[in-house]
Amino acid sequence: MSTTDFPNDSFAISEAVSIETGRGGLPYLALSAGGSSAHIYLHGAHVTHFQPVDAEPVLFVSDEAVFGEGKAIRGGVPVIFPWFGANDQDPSLPSHGFARTRAWSVESTNVLDDRRVQVVLGLRDDEATRAVWPFAFAARFSVVLGETLEMELRIENTGDESFDYEDALHTYFQVGDVRKISLTGLEDTEYLDKVNGMQLAREGADPVSFKGETDRVYIDTESECVVHDPVMNRRIAIGKSGSRSTVVWNPWAEKSAAFADFGDDEWPGMVCVETCNVGRNAIALAPGADHATRATVQLA
Ligand code: BG6
Repeated sequence: MSTTDFPNDSFAISEAVSIETGRGGLPYLALSAGGSSAHIYLHGAHVTHFQPVDAEPVLFVSDEAVFGEGKAIRGGVPVIFPWFGANDQDPSLPSHGFARTRAWSVESTNVLDDRRVQVVLGLRDDEATRAVWPFAFAARFSVVLGETLEMELRIENTGDESFDYEDALHTYFQVGDVRKISLTGLEDTEYLDKVNGMQLAREGADPVSFKGETDRVYIDTESECVVHDPVMNRRIAIGKSGSRSTVVWNPWAEKSAAFADFGDDEWPGMVCVETCNVGRNAIALAPGADHATRATVQLA
């Protein structure tokens, strides 16, 4: 596929954006604004770190994560496009599409004001992407760091044929103990239960709690979600727009032991709450049209 080049030094901004060598020798942009910090790898346009001022890091990244060409990083915010999970037509294709394993390029870095800095990364179709998904597109991923982390994935149809796509900002959050957290914002919402043969179920009036492997695709929901974490004594609010699905995932003990890039004992310390458009919420784009999926993460 592609190799990740180091970006031009002109994208560095004194005290706000620096270009660093990260795990696996891959380049990342280190952002700093008003005491908050974030890291974004060009490999996959992958945010691996977000730490608001005077707070613990918000994102989980596995100690066993593999940082390398063609591999997806286990943790942070994988950018999922143009399909979610297994490919419908060809299950031999990589899970969750190709965006998270491609080399993105830096389009711009900007200081927005004295408390916010922005990075915009881009990815376009090429021979390798068209071999697995035959459409022309321009993807732009904007990250704004301030007290909050604002992410926007904008997809434009640059070809002359319509297409449908799925996307996700597959955010892994660090939690004190997943068995003790609760998740609000999905009450009375329908979901497809992946651990129960994709059966359709409906959430009740109570917050979501975690008692075993959890892998749910909540559909037709645009609500903000809040992770309530009594162990870390904090709440993480995940706001969104342009997104009509939310996926909630924790692999639990047995499944995580089967992942080579996930420590056997790490599962209690994470939960994924993913800002998505999947299944019947997939996005249809006519030639020339675009769509933006946005997630805003903050401690509340
Ligand atoms: C979640 C899916 O979004 O991602 C799960 O709902 C999947 O089914 C998980 O196991 C991790 O996927 P991957 O491809 O990163 O191992």
